[in-house]
Amino acid sequence: MESAFQKNILCIGAGYVGGPTMAMIAYKCPQYRVNVVDINPIRIQEWNSSELPIFEPGLDEIVAEVRGKNLFFTTDIDKGIHDADIIFVSVNTPTKTFGVGAGMAADLQYWEKTARQILRCSESSKIIVEKSTLPVKTALAMERILKSDNSHIHFEVLSNPEFLAEGTAIQDLENPDRVLIGCSQTESGFKAMEQIVEIYANWIPKERILTSNIWSSELSKLVANAFLAQRISSINAISELCEKTEADVKEVARAIGMDTRIGNKFLNASVGFGGSCFQKDILNLVYLCRSYGLNIVADYWESVVSINNHQKERFVLNMLKAMFNTLAGKKICLFGFAFKADTGDTRETPARYVAQKLLEENAELVISDPQALQNAQKDMHGVTGKIHYIKDPYAAAQGCHAIAIITEWDLYRHLDYKKIFSSMNKPAFIFDGRNIVDHNILFDIGFNVYPIGKPALTHF
Ligand code: UDX
Ligand code: UDX
Repeated sequence: MESAFQKNILCIGAGYVGGPTMAMIAYKCPQYRVNVVDINPIRIQEWNSSELPIFEPGLDEIVAEVRGKNLFFTTDIDKGIHDADIIFVSVNTPTKTFGVGAGMAADLQYWEKTARQILRCSESSKIIVEKSTLPVKTALAMERILKSDNSHIHFEVLSNPEFLAEGTAIQDLENPDRVLIGCSQTESGFKAMEQIVEIYANWIPKERILTSNIWSSELSKLVANAFLAQRISSINAISELCEKTEADVKEVARAIGMDTRIGNKFLNASVGFGGSCFQKDILNLVYLCRSYGLNIVADYWESVVSINNHQKERFVLNMLKAMFNTLAGKKICLFGFAFKADTGDTRETPARYVAQKLLEENAELVISDPQALQNAQKDMHGVTGKIHYIKDPYAAAQGCHAIAIITEWDLYRHLDYKKIFSSMNKPAFIFDGRNIVDHNILFDIGFNVYPIGKPALTHF
């Protein structure tokens, strides 16, 4: 097909990663045509509407600018593959729920299916780029599938993991700390890598575009997420000790964070980390270590997940203990259901665990969130108990015995807590799972305040 565009790029998988990443490439590179395909027609329809399937600050504007010009969303995967020079694969790789490695290993069935589809629909050589997070050596498996019909067509498989975080995806894509591209150390590998470097070099300084061998690239993505999650579990582990010793975890975090060797980011103690990546990727890493017989290394990384589970559990037990060991019939309001602020995503959110446990204690729940109520409703579908969904935080807290802050939405920092207090059942409790409100002010208003990693402030 003759085309006015310099490159024809395809992305398979129009999710949280594929959608925004391709929107940014199209926006920065008007000379390329970018097609995004997905097996889910509803997702594609949403990408083509004014209500995009994901909430991400700044995304709407970029999509509005390029959609229909050089960015296209369709369900025609076969044609997309046929026409493409470069194919990014960003289909999901959830934790396996069955068979060997269930609950730990990555489920690669979508990957393999996609590789076979690429093979079936291709009539020319292509570069295949792994965008999804994958176990190390997946590229090898992919290459084997792609070479299985002995045709003259050459597929070069590269790894280019995505490091964007939700809520800041556009910022992270526009100005990344680094871009990583891994290739086979062969002539064709290097040639293909140059083509991917060329895409990013349209807006990212060359010194921030790292290249490596393909296995380092695949592994770096898992390790980056494991390190980030480990920092949170480290500070969360210390938060429990702070609660026992009258130390203040925020002060400890500030004191250690000013050591440039430690650094001050990702040291916010919380109700626990969530999101689609951290737990999945650590378990994937753990499984990988075990499969090589590295059990001590596997145990080390697995403990990051154990601490996270412990933190969530501890949060609920603290609530129960503080509220006189009974929650039956009490109305509790969750401020936030998203796994972090500035996203409507609720995958692996600690809110889901907290909600379930509170309902098991026969509490009545009011779930409030500025963006995630639709997903919350889906997540809680089928769970027994009384649940209300109310977006407005003032209406949500009215008549409640307690508020639990689960998501660090900026909105919750600036509410009129005097007004909220006066509308609540007394004694009124607030459990700040993110340490985002002024605990002394809330205490003075009349709340019994339970922060993370600091002694509680109570009126009795
Ligand atoms: C991505 C990566 O794929 C994952 O490995 C990484 O760890 C996190 O980021 P994400 O974009 O968040 O996942 O996943 P999701 O939003 O579920 O998007 C995946 C999309 O792929 C979905 O829209 C799904 O419909 C689509 N898909 C899945 C296909 O188009 N074909 C398939 O065979 C399977
Ligand atoms: C993460 C990685 O940051 C990103 O590089 C990767 O590509 C995908 O996984 P994401 O899951 O979108 O991104 O969000 P992130 O900001 O990392 O937060 C993950 C979880 O940790 C959230 O639940 C967040 O609230 C929590 N968190 C983060 C803390 O509890 N404390 C902190 O100090 C930081």
